[in-house]
Amino acid sequence: MATKKIQVINGPNLNMLGKREPEIYGSLTLDQINDDLAQQAIPLGMDIDFFQSNHEGAILDKLHEIFNKNIDGIIINPGALTHTSIALRDAMALISCPVVEIHLSNIYKREAFRHKSMLADIVTGQIAGFGHYGYQMALNAIADMINAS
Ligand code: DQA
Repeated sequence: MATKKIQVINGPNLNMLGKREPEIYGSLTLDQINDDLAQQAIPLGMDIDFFQSNHEGAILDKLHEIFNKNIDGIIINPGALTHTSIALRDAMALISCPVVEIHLSNIYKREAFRHKSMLADIVTGQIAGFGHYGYQMALNAIADMINAS
């Protein structure tokens, strides 16, 4: 079976994981989370490209690039852009492969402005509140979806 291509996208401030409000986001760095995910992907027959940006436009450009490529699944934590970016929503609407929106924290237990996700109704599914483990759950979910299709 051909290797499946997975894109992981992390938005603003997620490069600061490990240092950033560890009581909310945990103590692992983004590199540690990504390394674990890359290991998990091997037996699943998946190859992951990791992308992080603090710039909305760079994330939109990445999604446009994905639109023109054969990508089998996307895991995205858009950070605060989740709650504000109609441009991100519009770019995500171009995407037809399975997409899992993930949040380390349970955004519904936090400030009211975090309860709204601009993406929630256009992604395949959302995982929130399980810390770094959410990325692993998302990868397993995408693997299952690909195998079932
Ligand atoms: C976050 C939640 C967002 O509200 C916040 O702005 C982030 C991280 C999370 O992973 O829990 O940057 O997406």
